[in-house]
Amino acid sequence: MQRQVISLPTESRQSEINIGYGIRRDLSQLVSRNFKQAPRRIGVISNKTVFKLYGKDLITALKSQSRDVLHWLIPDGERFKSFRIFEKAVSFLADNRFERNDVVVALGGGVVGDLAGLTASTYLRGIGLVQVPTSLLAQIDSSIGGKTAINLSSGKNMLGTFYQPHVVCIDTQTLDSLPARELVAGFCEMVKQSLVANQKLFDQTVALLKQFQLDQKTLATPDFERLITAHCMFKASIVANDERESADRTDSKSRRILNFGHTTAHALEKVTNYRWFRHGEAVGYGMLVAGELSKNLDLLDAADLESLREAVNLCGSLPRVEHIDVTEIIDALKFDKKSVQGQINWVLLDKVGSPKIVEGRLSSKRILRRSISDGLRASWRQKERSH
Ligand code: NAD
Ligand code: GLY
Repeated sequence: MQRQVISLPTESRQSEINIGYGIRRDLSQLVSRNFKQAPRRIGVISNKTVFKLYGKDLITALKSQSRDVLHWLIPDGERFKSFRIFEKAVSFLADNRFERNDVVVALGGGVVGDLAGLTASTYLRGIGLVQVPTSLLAQIDSSIGGKTAINLSSGKNMLGTFYQPHVVCIDTQTLDSLPARELVAGFCEMVKQSLVANQKLFDQTVALLKQFQLDQKTLATPDFERLITAHCMFKASIVANDERESADRTDSKSRRILNFGHTTAHALEKVTNYRWFRHGEAVGYGMLVAGELSKNLDLLDAADLESLREAVNLCGSLPRVEHIDVTEIIDALKFDKKSVQGQINWVLLDKVGSPKIVEGRLSSKRILRRSISDGLRASWRQKERSH
């Protein structure tokens, strides 16, 4: 398939999103096309796992652009998206005397992308940023739209910026090495994005997931690349329209709708100390809970709830949750950073492709508790049925 290029215009800058098989090897051309002045230094921030797989290709490609290509690696894991590692990342740039026209390249999944993005956006009040996402979640979601973050002990993504990358380079070939569990997590984020987008993207996503169950080589097909492109185009359209996720917008095109499933997901991650779920897996459960809540508030009909459950089920197995106490989840919901004046704002669904932002007080404690219990159990019921 031909390389796809999407332009994402925002107030701060025009980001160029490139999608194609093997395109990491062309990164140098993408850099020279998108930076007026050739960077003197390029700093690749990655983790050990991903750098071992793709670092060499990237450094070789970038060396034709700048004589000074340095790299700095963080350990692998969500817990390293921390203040301590952020400080070290900034020191890496400072110690090597990076200047305003120099560039950070983030090579990895969402953890590397969020941390490297925050580093590039704050060092010298902002230097060049290129995202090279290598997980499915990062390719369809986190590398696009400029959210950067680290976690604090009080919660996930509590410190961050909006900072658009100059270039995003999505090399779909890197998915070949992605562990199965990370694919499940990425599929969950795809389902989430398609549920708030439109029926067409939802149907395309479900069809691909069904195809993947029959033939795992589906990931290397033009159809899959087209699906990734469609997801990126949808996300870009939302970001272009509401870059900074305005708190006062409640319409179905506001950036807040992308948080569908995330209220419960973040609570689940918090009560399990960020060690039990991959982020996308938690979003899988979060969607099931949001689906139940939408149904219990008479927004979503039974058929659409069943489609949502089927789509989450197609993503693959999710970690067990029987040991997690619903009361603890409800307590953790209070830390949701999307709360406005202490009120949780749920992203729910009227129907597939029609998200709705609903104030938490419209749901009684009883309905909330039942929705969480049923949502968490839905995944298991479904698995039992399909066996
Ligand atoms: P991750 O970055 O931890 O990557 C998942 C695992 O896959 C890691 O072990 C990583 O080393 C490995 N990996 C990545 N690419 C690989 C490849 N091609 N081959 C082999 N292994 C590979 O997790 P993630 O799911 O990519 O991202 C989750 C993070 O993204 C969370 O911190 C979440 O908060 C954040 N996020 C941010 C946004 C945003 O808009 N900025 C959106 C969604 C999620
Ligand atoms: N992943 C949600 C957002 O980028 O807004």
